[in-house]
Amino acid sequence: MNSTHRYAELLHDDDQGIARGAELLRGGCLVAFPTETVYGLGADARDDRAVARIYAAKNRPAFNPLIVHLATPGAAATYAHLDDNAERLAAAFWPGPLTLVLPLRRNAGLSELVTAGNASVALRVPAHPLAVRLLAAAGIPVAAPSANPSGRVSPTEAAHVTAWLGDRVDAVIDGGACAVGVESTIVSLDGTPALLRPGGLPVEAIEDCLGARLPRPADPALPQAPGQLASHYAPRARLRTNAVQPDAGEVFIGFGHTMFPAALNLSVNGDLVEAAANLFRHLRQADDLAGPDGRIAVAPVPLHGLGLAINDRLRRASAPRG
Ligand code: TXA
Ligand code: MG
Repeated sequence: MNSTHRYAELLHDDDQGIARGAELLRGGCLVAFPTETVYGLGADARDDRAVARIYAAKNRPAFNPLIVHLATPGAAATYAHLDDNAERLAAAFWPGPLTLVLPLRRNAGLSELVTAGNASVALRVPAHPLAVRLLAAAGIPVAAPSANPSGRVSPTEAAHVTAWLGDRVDAVIDGGACAVGVESTIVSLDGTPALLRPGGLPVEAIEDCLGARLPRPADPALPQAPGQLASHYAPRARLRTNAVQPDAGEVFIGFGHTMFPAALNLSVNGDLVEAAANLFRHLRQADDLAGPDGRIAVAPVPLHGLGLAINDRLRRASAPRG
């Protein structure tokens, strides 16, 4: 099926929508679907051509590997080798906003485009009921990056996906707004345990489970996921972080109580979970308010719990553009 000149089918959160989405996935099509973190752009992870279409739709650099989404934790062993740490984290946090990078099981049938030729594979079992039903109905491993054009903020509503990728995907399943709002936390267990990306599962919870401290992203020693480009998640407007007060002409995004009026506030009560859920939507709205040559200033957000992921995304959004 060639979707280049066709608009995406809009599917609903019902048996019919899920059956149709599963059928399209099995047929090598691209289906965007909600997870608890952000919307994913899914394709059959065993099908080279379908996976290649993900890269094309996103304009994604081909060296950047994809996360494989599974319906159940039990399916992970089909594709990867799980050591004790992996078993422990999977038992504690799957389904949920955690991605594990694990040694790839050869001959498991995954497209090499998914792993980008690496000897490791990133696996995740999402918790969103619609995602779980879709994956179970499809009965296949589904490669799914966030459903945004490369370098843009991740979509947390179906309308974001259709606005940007509507003419490049075969279907979008509408499951409403994503509860977590930032991408999954990525931990590598391919070698020494390492945090590759802070995300929707607080790193402190992972450390408690492993009984060991993981190096933080600010640590120079930290290995980076291949996709962690410095400038990423970027709104159009220039963005300044840790702003105690806005400069003239800046759209101010607050956090908690602010001394200066804020156009938008990530969480008036200073709740980091609420702030994560609002982050990408507020960046989009601030971008609209700021206009073509506009500027955005964001108030300081604490560096613990989900604040680590929020600061990581803000730092990338504010990085000099390439
Ligand atoms: O919450 C999420 O994780 C969302 C939803 C849709 O599940 N997905 C997502 O995927 O954020 P994506 O492709 O936007 O980010 C995946 C990250 C990239 O930075 C990529 O480089 C890294 O995972 N990654 C994937 N496979 C890897 C591997 N084998 N080794 C190291 N990093 C890997
Ligand atoms: Mg992404």
